[in-house]
Amino acid sequence: MPMNMEEVTMNNKFNIVDVLMLDHKYLKECIKVMKDDEEDKKVKLRIAKGFLDALAKHSLAEKRAVYAPLLKVKDLRKDIIEGEIEHGIVDAKVKMLTVKLTGLRSLGEELEIEMKVLAELLEHHIKEEEEEMFPKMKKDLDKVILNEMGFQFMKLRNFSEKDLRHYPKLQKEVTGLKKLGHRISGNFIAKVQKHVTAAGHHVG
Ligand SMILES: [Fe+2]
Ligand SMILES: [Fe+2]
Repeated sequence: MPMNMEEVTMNNKFNIVDVLMLDHKYLKECIKVMKDDEEDKKVKLRIAKGFLDALAKHSLAEKRAVYAPLLKVKDLRKDIIEGEIEHGIVDAKVKMLTVKLTGLRSLGEELEIEMKVLAELLEHHIKEEEEEMFPKMKKDLDKVILNEMGFQFMKLRNFSEKDLRHYPKLQKEVTGLKKLGHRISGNFIAKVQKHVTAAGHHVG
């Protein structure tokens, strides 16, 4: 069934905070494995590869569908700038480690520690998003915007069939999104900013 915007925004299935929490849930499971010194190295390497892939996609979609449109929200501006700086550090590490792990059959000590450091950086970042940013987003933005933001995030997030094993709740939604391509709608950022200005939450 084709998806119309009214359906997206009214049924609350795509609320960005819920979608991000679900994506974070999988990332947190990976973080736990990366931080566990007792975990089997083979398991760790397998999970590390999935972790880097999910994190790269999460980061890109989050920066474009969430961070960029909210930069002018007074309440959120400092959190967004801080988050963007952290994304910069995390993304550089993800890029470097993806190259190093490609084709690797066993995880050496140094790479294992590199993965642990990445996991700890991300853990801090996710905690701030969940405890500081998300409550403000829920307070400042109305449901229509939160749902449309989740919809745009899902389009960009580009879940693979394999990813979806971790997200049973999103499976049906993602099937509908596949046909829409993986690009953010052109007028989306302007629409969020208009909403934020109208609600009096903008900077300046
Ligand atoms: Fe983030
Ligand atoms: Fe996030």
